Order: sequence, then structure tokens, then C-alpha cells
Amino acid sequence: MSKLKQEILKLIEDGNFISGEKIARGLNVSRTAVWKSIQILKQEGYEIESVTNKGYQLRRKPSVLSPTKLSSLVTRSEVFEGMEYFTSTESTQKDAFRILEENDNTYLVIAEEQTKGRGRFDRQFESPKKSGLYVSMVFRPSISISEIIRFNLFISMAISNTLDEAFGLRSGIKWPNDIYIDNRKVCGFLTEVVSEANIINAIVCGVGINLFKNDALSNVESATSVEEEMTEGQSLDTDIFLEYFFNNIEKYYVKFLNEPFSSIRGEWMRKSIIFNREISISEIYNHYKAVALDITEDGFLEVLDNEGNIKKIISADIEL
Ligand code: BTN
Repeated sequence: MSKLKQEILKLIEDGNFISGEKIARGLNVSRTAVWKSIQILKQEGYEIESVTNKGYQLRRKPSVLSPTKLSSLVTRSEVFEGMEYFTSTESTQKDAFRILEENDNTYLVIAEEQTKGRGRFDRQFESPKKSGLYVSMVFRPSISISEIIRFNLFISMAISNTLDEAFGLRSGIKWPNDIYIDNRKVCGFLTEVVSEANIINAIVCGVGINLFKNDALSNVESATSVEEEMTEGQSLDTDIFLEYFFNNIEKYYVKFLNEPFSSIRGEWMRKSIIFNREISISEIYNHYKAVALDITEDGFLEVLDNEGNIKKIISADIEL
């Protein structure tokens, strides 16, 4: 059924009318099957006009992330083998870990809403309904656990490029795990691993991107959404966004598997927003101010603290 919806979507995607009979003939199914799929697509938020003697016309794509679009992306994905979609869940990260126990695949867990979205350092991650992308991606590289720093650098490039390419924005990377637009956070991601004897069995990378304006965000001065940052009149096409997102994630994941950080270091530096300014650094037992100087070939952040010491940091919470 899901495959049929994908095929129908392809046929009506250009916005022209196409008759139910023609769709049915082309896809070798009954007109009732076409009608039923159209009803489900409408429930998913696709605005589809049905006119007697003309057929169906796609008027507008959904403002929510369409499960049909997602499954078609997974079907043709070279990285992900499966997907779970929830209208509501506590946390996709939690779901991804639960699924890990029963299967050895690579997969995605996506939800329209999270009731207990989790950020880094166990902070709450606001995930209101139909407002953002909340996804946990399970990868299975056979690599050492120390490669995770490099993984984060590649993934941050993928997300930042997605926002720029899909919406014409100018996003920046706040090392290690945030994406910002104009000094406000639009996305955070969280990378966790399951490992044995230092070798990774699975990476579970949870990404939260604020797409649409919502009440939870409007109370947070330091947060923004894609919708807020787009120029007026520009429409936020979630199907196009998903295409860019998964294309970039796959592209940078394959690069991560095959290339050193030095191959993307130049582009990463151009996107970084933490250099040449004072930042506040919080490590487990240490809080101090410093100036970020550089990122090393292995992904460590080099900073100059107020006492003139140069330090190398693997991971920390940074405030601008
Ligand atoms: C952060 O900003 O500290 C990281 C936020 C990560 C949020 C994502 S949303 C999908 C996945 N599920 C969660 O509970 N958290 C991650």
C-alpha cells in the first residue's frame, strides 16, 4: 500500500490533473485502490483536488513530515534499511535503543511529537507536535569509539548544508552539536553509541530541527525556527527538505566512512561560528571563558583560556 501511495504521489507531483483511470491503468491497480490511497494521502496532509472528468491534482504538500515521502526516501536509501514512524512518542532516541535490542539493521525512528525529547547532558528538548524534525538514525559502522568526534563533524556539515540548500538560509555550526542561524539555535543533535571492547556496534544519532514557529519556541530567546528565518512569502516544503536532509546525511556519512576530517576541514571552518570570539566552556568539573583558536585534524577544539593556556577539548557545552 505504502509503495502505491509513493507511485501515485510521483504521478500527481507536477501539479497537473491526471484521471483516476489513467493512474489505475499505469500502476496496474483498481480505481478503488487509487481512491483509497488518495484518501490516505489527504489524511497525511497532501491537499489533493478531485474533479469529475479531470481527475486528481496535487495542490499543496503537507506542512508535516509525510510518512509516504519518508518511506520512499528509505526505499531508495543506500544507508538506511528500515523506518518507524510515530505520531507521538516519548523520545525517538529511546525507541531507537529499544529497537536495537531486536534487530541488526540500520534504520530511522521519526515522530511528529516527542513528549520527553532528550538533549545533550540530559536536558529536555522541546518537541511539540508537527513543529519539527525529530529523528533518531541508527548507523552500524565497524569503527573504533574514538571516531565519534569525527562523526559529529561530518554530521554537523550535513545538517547545516541541508538548511542552506533547502531554504536558502545561512546557518552555522556551533561546535560540537548545534546548528545556529543568526546567533540562535535552530537544531541540536545528540550522538550516542553501543560498543563492545572499544568497537562500535551502533551509533544512534538523534537530530531535532525546529521547522515551524510554535509556542514552546517563542518563549526561548536563544532559539529560532526555519519558518522564522525564511523570507516572507517563501513556502516551507517539507518534502524537499526531507530530500535534502537524507541526501546530505548519506553523502556525509559515506564521506565519514572513507575520508579523514581534513577533507572537509575547510568547509567546516567556514561554517563554524565559534572562532575569534569569547565563549563560555562547561566541562564536567570545569567552567571557564576562552577564545576558540582552531580545530585539529582529529577534531579537537583548541582554545586559549584567560590565563593564557592553550587547551584541547574533546567535548563540552559551549555558550556564545
Ligand atoms: C541538544 O540540542 O542537546 C540535542 C537535541 C537532540 C534532540 C533529538 S530529537 C530526536 C532525538 N530524540 C530525542 O529525545 N532527542 C533527539
